[in-house]
Amino acid sequence: MKKVYLRTFGCQMNEYDSERLLALLSGEYVPCQAPEEADLILINTCSVRRKAEEKVYSMAGRFKHLKARRPEIIIGICGCVAQQEGERLLKRFPHLDLVLGPQNIYRIREILEEIERTRRPQVRVEMESGFRPPVVVPSLDGKRPIKAQVTIMQGCDNFCSYCVVPYVRGREISRPPEDILREIECLVRQGVREVTLLGQNVNSYGKKEKGFPSFAELLRMVAEIPDLWRIRFTTSHPRDLSEDLMRAFAEVKKLCEHLHLPVQSGSNRILRRMNRGYTREEYLEKIRRLREICPEIALTTDIIVGFPGETEEDFAETLFLLEEVRYDEIFSFKYSDRPYARAREFPEKVPEEVKAERLSRVHTLQARITEEINRSYIGREVEVLVEGPSETRPELWTGRTRTNHVVNFSAPPGLDLKGALVYVFIKDTGKHSLRGEYRRTIQGP
Ligand code: SAH
Ligand code: SF4
Ligand code: F3S
Repeated sequence: MKKVYLRTFGCQMNEYDSERLLALLSGEYVPCQAPEEADLILINTCSVRRKAEEKVYSMAGRFKHLKARRPEIIIGICGCVAQQEGERLLKRFPHLDLVLGPQNIYRIREILEEIERTRRPQVRVEMESGFRPPVVVPSLDGKRPIKAQVTIMQGCDNFCSYCVVPYVRGREISRPPEDILREIECLVRQGVREVTLLGQNVNSYGKKEKGFPSFAELLRMVAEIPDLWRIRFTTSHPRDLSEDLMRAFAEVKKLCEHLHLPVQSGSNRILRRMNRGYTREEYLEKIRRLREICPEIALTTDIIVGFPGETEEDFAETLFLLEEVRYDEIFSFKYSDRPYARAREFPEKVPEEVKAERLSRVHTLQARITEEINRSYIGREVEVLVEGPSETRPELWTGRTRTNHVVNFSAPPGLDLKGALVYVFIKDTGKHSLRGEYRRTIQGP
């Protein structure tokens, strides 16, 4: 059997695509951990920030000597940088054999055959407007994974002014509900208990397609699948967060009480320039309503600091918003110019050192809030879906609460808790996790 070395960068959608690539290659290739051993090297890339893109180039450069030593090896770049750069990648890296856009991964087998036959590099970055990806379920034998993710829609139509995604992932297309349900059912039959539904803006699921359910309806359909215990989804666009979806958090028992709702900035002036389609007040009103419907919901968000024209006052508005909402966790980024994105033309770029300083202020503030929220768990009993032994401390078990907090906990020896739903009593907090003690099993693996 030949060997494939696959590296994945970027979002969960890329992780999903990588799993499909491995599934499509299985039978001919087995995954390996060292590029030196591989017959096929694939880098699945992300272009969302400049740093992500640069990482790909330095990695691609490093494989040049492998190709020189073993010309029969096939080296490919997949994903969003492949889509963005196309042919240009071959000019920059003459040792590449393959440039593969996200929509084209499903043809990997025939494309590899063509490379082997012709010994010519291939660039496959076409995008179709009505693209329907096939249902591909990775074989999970032996691995007993507890969680899985399923893409429910491709692309994005929002064109936030800083963002490259609509250009590299194309227009929004929802997958038919029957494909989604079939894929989840197959995963559940293999032992998966928690599924995360993926899309750049899941709230507009099915809006463009005739006869499709809404996202809230799709959630209710997924919740009907027996032996599936937990459902999560990401990402939701604040503008399209509907009352119906908010109610699902109270009504759909399997839906976990966590919402990732990227706000990006607390300043109305910046939000407008970002083309986000909501104001700070509208965003806060949705949060208020959501907490009224589901008081225990945990919230996380994405923040961009140093968007072109962001003043100290604009930035202060972001800090106030973080104080006001009190997110469980945030992901914060320094703005960087991206190809095609409109904001690259905006003047008044914020200097790097100002961005770095703002980012560190955001980190300091959020670290305090996260710690306070974590502490509020001490003395409580929480439901945890056990993923397995902790990687760093194998004597502890690890899993997540419904609110998506990581919990490491001790249990009496001899119990095999992997895949079980248990109650854990929280006794302490770590930097990014909660610590506790096993109490009892709700449902066995
Ligand atoms: N679809 C999701 C997010 C996709 S990208 C949404 O609508 O929120 C993930 C995050 O990367 C974004 O939320 C944003 O915070 C960040 N990001 C995107 N483009 C960026 C850029 N040019 N510079 C810095 N951060 C960026
Ligand atoms: Fe990018 Fe905006 Fe689409 Fe998210 S919603 S992927 S930030 S354009
Ligand atoms: Fe990156 Fe593409 Fe995802 S740009 S964030 S891998 S959609």
